[in-house]
Amino acid sequence: MSCNPNLTPQELREKIAELKQKRNAIILAHNYVLGEIQDIADFCGDSLELSIKAAENTNADTIVFCGVRFMAETAKILSPGKKVLLPTPDAGCAMADMIDLNTLNKIKKQYPDAVTVCYVNSTAEVKTGVDICCTSANAERIVASIPAEKEVIMVPDGNLGANVGNALKRKIIRYNGFCPIHNRFTRQMIEDRRREFPEAVVIVHPECAPDITAAADAALSTGAMLGFVKNSPAKMFIIGTEIGIIYRLRKENPDKIFIPLTEQAICPDMKKCELFDVYIALRDMKEEIILPQEVIDSARGAIEKMLK
Ligand code: 13P
Ligand code: SF4
Repeated sequence: MSCNPNLTPQELREKIAELKQKRNAIILAHNYVLGEIQDIADFCGDSLELSIKAAENTNADTIVFCGVRFMAETAKILSPGKKVLLPTPDAGCAMADMIDLNTLNKIKKQYPDAVTVCYVNSTAEVKTGVDICCTSANAERIVASIPAEKEVIMVPDGNLGANVGNALKRKIIRYNGFCPIHNRFTRQMIEDRRREFPEAVVIVHPECAPDITAAADAALSTGAMLGFVKNSPAKMFIIGTEIGIIYRLRKENPDKIFIPLTEQAICPDMKKCELFDVYIALRDMKEEIILPQEVIDSARGAIEKMLK
């Protein structure tokens, strides 16, 4: 977060709109970022939707990515000809930082014939060492597409690996990475909320531990949550993911009620980007995501395979 001494939100929005034209830029934002950023984004989505958007052959020269580093890196890998800016360069992902290429290679050595599936919440370097990527929206489909006789390694999210394994009744070799925000949820929280709001539908994210996804009514990516809520006749929902999504859920479903499973489910990295940061990013064209060409070339295959 940068310090903004004297510009009002309206002035910032105007400056951003001017600079966006000048730089021929589009603003992509993840569903968890602050509402003020969701409101100025050209496109808001989950990791899969954002990857698809970044890969689109738009005539924009610049992508301003409001989210965390692995998402901006994925955009750069998919659109290497564009400038990709991350307004908050220190916005990382605790889970992505839990595994490096060295560790991945050690796991692969133990299971030399396994197919390695990598959650997009990982560094670009780790993606260079895997067979195929996945997001929370398509993890089951990706693993189901791997021949049954093949062993499957999933990194870095142990919970996602367990949830996919349970859904497909398939053994998954899992790494023990996790999201500290989604790992906070307990069964007790679900029980308490259900007691308070018995008519509510409980939706959680596949990054939650398997006992949490089992206790919920659905486990969905943030993009799928939006679709589920829109199409559901229910009027009240308990949301077990980062609370930023609730801004968009409320905006798109003003007649429905959304209750966070816990108010404490806040990803500090997703909250770093403010209007002033987007203004500075477009004004000074920073911070640009720069990846070595060999990393771009060898990570692209696994992401493109997922998109196909
Ligand atoms: P989605 O792809 O479901 O938006 O999830 C991204 C993420 O970082 C969840 O913590
Ligand atoms: Fe990473 Fe968790 Fe934050 Fe998502 S919510 S970006 S997985 S730390």
